[in-house]
Amino acid sequence: VNYSMEEIVSLCKRRGIIFPSSEIYNGYAGFYDYGPLGCELKKNVKDAWWRFFVTSREDVVGLDSSIIHNPATWKSSGHVDGFSDPMVDCKETKLRFRADQLFFSPVINEQNEILGYACVQENTDEQMVKDAKKQVKDLLKTLDKAGEAIQAFSFKEVNEATEEEMKQIPSPASGKPTLTMPRAFNLMFQTQVGALSDESSTAYLRPETAQGIFLNFKNVLTTSRQKIPFGIAQIGKAFRNEITPRNFIFRSREFEQMEVEYFIPPGDDVWPEFHQKWMDDSREFLLSIGLREDLMGWDVHKGDKLAHYAQACTDITFKFPFGEQELMGIAARGNYDLTQHTEGSGKSLDYFDEQTKEKYIPHCIEPSLGVDRLMLALICSAYAEDEVGGEKRSLLKFDPKVAPIKVAVLPLVKNKEALVSVARELFDKLRVRWNCQWDATGAIGRRYRRADEVGTPFCITVDFDTIEKDNSVTIRDRDTTEQVRIPMDEVVSYLSKQIDG
Ligand code: GAP
Repeated sequence: VNYSMEEIVSLCKRRGIIFPSSEIYNGYAGFYDYGPLGCELKKNVKDAWWRFFVTSREDVVGLDSSIIHNPATWKSSGHVDGFSDPMVDCKETKLRFRADQLFFSPVINEQNEILGYACVQENTDEQMVKDAKKQVKDLLKTLDKAGEAIQAFSFKEVNEATEEEMKQIPSPASGKPTLTMPRAFNLMFQTQVGALSDESSTAYLRPETAQGIFLNFKNVLTTSRQKIPFGIAQIGKAFRNEITPRNFIFRSREFEQMEVEYFIPPGDDVWPEFHQKWMDDSREFLLSIGLREDLMGWDVHKGDKLAHYAQACTDITFKFPFGEQELMGIAARGNYDLTQHTEGSGKSLDYFDEQTKEKYIPHCIEPSLGVDRLMLALICSAYAEDEVGGEKRSLLKFDPKVAPIKVAVLPLVKNKEALVSVARELFDKLRVRWNCQWDATGAIGRRYRRADEVGTPFCITVDFDTIEKDNSVTIRDRDTTEQVRIPMDEVVSYLSKQIDG
């Protein structure tokens, strides 16, 4: 893509899509607020997902579990002991860094003497090189060896550094060697439930929606008359105390997930087919709401990248302006979670197959997608610049299904009562069905630009011909800027085809 994250962040702010949280108090790292257009977009994305994976299928049902579960949940699931990232602290600045995003390299002179270590915090190669060069330069200054021919060896992860090397790595902020050794940092937010505040009242904000599904497996099974294979879907908030929240809403501390646990029979020959099907369906869904295919990719997890509970995991990736990154994961989770909760709770979470007369703990396939991350990918997919009538315009080519505003109604002039009232009547009729915008001020061209910039797919203009001649209106398409003239009483069915498909 040929635009930067800064442009995206600034557009989102300017147009009321996404604001930094608590901005009047200078914001709060890792938290964001969705403005009038952002919350419409978010709602549309979640609705589209729910329609695609829940209401349009007979084998998936919904759930909305609590955010705070009995803390025993997180012990059984492995999150208390294992849900952590390696972290290093800068003792001087008190800044924290994810160790796997920190790289270091010895800097040597012509005599192969190590002059020091350059350290960069990065996750994309291009940026890493840029930062590395700066680090080397800064390091030279601190070492007072300017003029000496130096070079840096290739960079490796701080995780792999020895204690001796760690002592010498200058922290990115100050250039002084003050980084601690990497240590595990649990990402779960803790809180206290009830009046007592001791260890027994410690609870956690859920770091994934998935566990609420496992806890309710039996409840749903016995009340929904589903038979395996079937799935339980949930959309909801999740919280992670990310060490380095970054890249806007890509990695935040409070976010939303859309997850399905799809329960299947055990067996090594069973899951691959279901896994493939969920990968195909996930891709189809993403394309159906306007994600750009040329920016999507696959990442099959191998070896140590694979979580301990997973038989397989494939990510769908997206080429964000800051690099190609995970958008969602589709994991074959085996029966790890239900087994753990059976042991932890002492309640049986098995399934009796009436046909085969077999009893087993079901395995599952888990497609897991972040709402906020998907929104960022959709905004990046939709962002475009072109020229109309010799004038530059920037637009968001949202698929009508997810566009925050579907239609803008524009009375050509605002001081002609008869014309305005016809337009208003049309507006009132349309907004019963879709989120619409009334825009009566400024030249018509400027009003089109305003609508284009927030991704409104259709503008309807009511003009003098409408009231004096043909009782028709002009509908302008955002992407092509082409206009069609349509009788007033056909507007709803015309739009319905375009918006609802
Ligand atoms: N239940 C499985 C699970 O939670 P995950 O890979 O940790 O797996 C799944 O998260 C998805 O949730 C990610 O692919 C991403 O879309 C989203 N996600 C995870 N952490 C996030 C964060 N800090 N900010 C925004 N989205 C996040």
